[in-house]
Amino acid sequence: MQEIVDTLVSAIKDKKAQDRELLSKFIDAVANRSIPNEQAITWLKAVHENSISPEDTAFLTQKMMHSGSVLEWPDYQNIVVDKHSTGGVGDKMSLILAPLLACCGLKVPMLAGRGLGHTGGTIDKLESLTGFRTDLTPEEMAASLETVGCCISAQSSEIAPADSLLYALRDISHTIDSIPLITASIISKKAAEGLDCLVLDVKCGDAAFMKNQDDAKALASSMQKVAQLLGIDCIAQITDMSNPIGDYIGNSLEVIESILVMKCEQENTDCRDIVYLQALDLLKLSGLYSDDQTILSKMDKEMKSGNVIRKFREMCVNQGVEGSYIDNVISNPDVLLGDDYLEIKATNSGYVESIDAMELAKIARKHKAGRFVFGEEINQFTGYILHKNEGSKVESDEALLTMYYDYKPTSEEVSIIQNSFRLIETQPQKTDSRLIARIGSKQMSN
Ligand code: URA
Repeated sequence: MQEIVDTLVSAIKDKKAQDRELLSKFIDAVANRSIPNEQAITWLKAVHENSISPEDTAFLTQKMMHSGSVLEWPDYQNIVVDKHSTGGVGDKMSLILAPLLACCGLKVPMLAGRGLGHTGGTIDKLESLTGFRTDLTPEEMAASLETVGCCISAQSSEIAPADSLLYALRDISHTIDSIPLITASIISKKAAEGLDCLVLDVKCGDAAFMKNQDDAKALASSMQKVAQLLGIDCIAQITDMSNPIGDYIGNSLEVIESILVMKCEQENTDCRDIVYLQALDLLKLSGLYSDDQTILSKMDKEMKSGNVIRKFREMCVNQGVEGSYIDNVISNPDVLLGDDYLEIKATNSGYVESIDAMELAKIARKHKAGRFVFGEEINQFTGYILHKNEGSKVESDEALLTMYYDYKPTSEEVSIIQNSFRLIETQPQKTDSRLIARIGSKQMSN
C-alpha cells in the first residue's frame, strides 16, 4: 500500500491526475481498514495542500459512495430527501428537520457525522439521549422509512465506510478545509442514501471551514455538480456562520434547544428559520409543493399541532430510546443539563454587535464538546446557553451566557468568552436572514 500512496501523492504534488486503478485500491483499503492510518493521512495532507481536479473529485466521490451498500427504495416518487451542512456552531437543524419533513410527507434516510474540528456533529448530539442507536443497518433504515418516515444514523461498515475513516482522520490531521475532501465526504454519504433530492447548507464566515464567499461558492458549486452527476437534484444554500446559531451550543444542550423549537417554546427564531429555509427548498424540489406560502403554512401547522415533536419521539423510540425516558426528556428537557456550570458576566455595557462563534467553539472543544485525538471520549454536557444575542442590550455585570464546563474555566478562558461578545454603543441593525446565496440546478431565487 505504501507504494500506491507514494505514487498517488507524487501525482498530486505534480498536479497530475490520480491513477483510477490506484485510487480505487486506496479507497478499498480505507474501506476495509487494511491501510495504516499514517498512510491515509499522508494522502489526505497531499490533497489538502495541493487539491485535486474536479474530475478526480467526482471519481473519488463515486468510489467512496460505492465503498459500502447503496440504499435502494421502493418507488417513492421523488420524495427521498436529505440535507447536509458543511459544519457550524450551534448547528442542530437535522434534529428538527428530519421529523418536520417526515410530517410533511417526505422520506428522510439521514446519514450524519460526529463533530469535526471545532464544529458539532449530529451523531454526537443524538447520543446524549440514553439508548439512541446511531448504527442502523440498511435494512433498519428501510424499515424506519416505511414506518416513521425518517431516521438519523451514522455511516458504518455497511454504508459509506470509506468516509467514516477519512472523516475521523481529517478531524485529527488538520485536513478538514479542503473543497475536494469535503465534496467527496458529504456527497458520497448522501449518494449512498439513494436520494432523489438534497439541500446543502454551505456555511460561510469566521466560524465555518469556508471563511469567505468565494470559497463557499466554489465548495457549493463543486458539491452541487458532483451530486447532479450522481443523479441527485441538489440545491446549495450558502448561509452566514459568524454568530452562533440559536441560543444553545454543545451536544446535549443542542438536543434541549431542538426540543424547545419543536415544542414551539423557543423565543429565538434563528433555528426554526434555518430549518424552514432548508425544508422549503426540499419540499419544492420533491415536487410535492410549489408555492412558498402553502409550504410555510403546512410547516407551521405541523409544528404548532405537536406533530413534529411527536414524530421526533417516534424516531427516538424506533432507534432504541425508552418511551418513558424520552417522554420525560420532552416534557422537561433540562434533565439533559450538566451539573457543572458558571455564569459569565459582561465587564461593560452596550449592544451586542456580534458574537465570535469560533472563539466559543474552540473553548468548548477544549472542554471536550469535540475531539482532538482519534476516538476520544467527549463530554456531552459541555457548552453554552447564550443569554444575549446579536442586537441585545447588555448592562455591565449582566450574564452573557452560562457555560457548562468539563473543568473550572481558567481566567483566560473567561476573558476570551467575555471578549467574544463585541459590544458597541448604538443598537445594530439585525440581519434578518442567514441566507447569502443559492446555487442549484433550478437556480431558485433568494
Ligand atoms: N460534513 C461532512 O460530512 N464532511 C465534511 O467534510 C464536512 C462536513
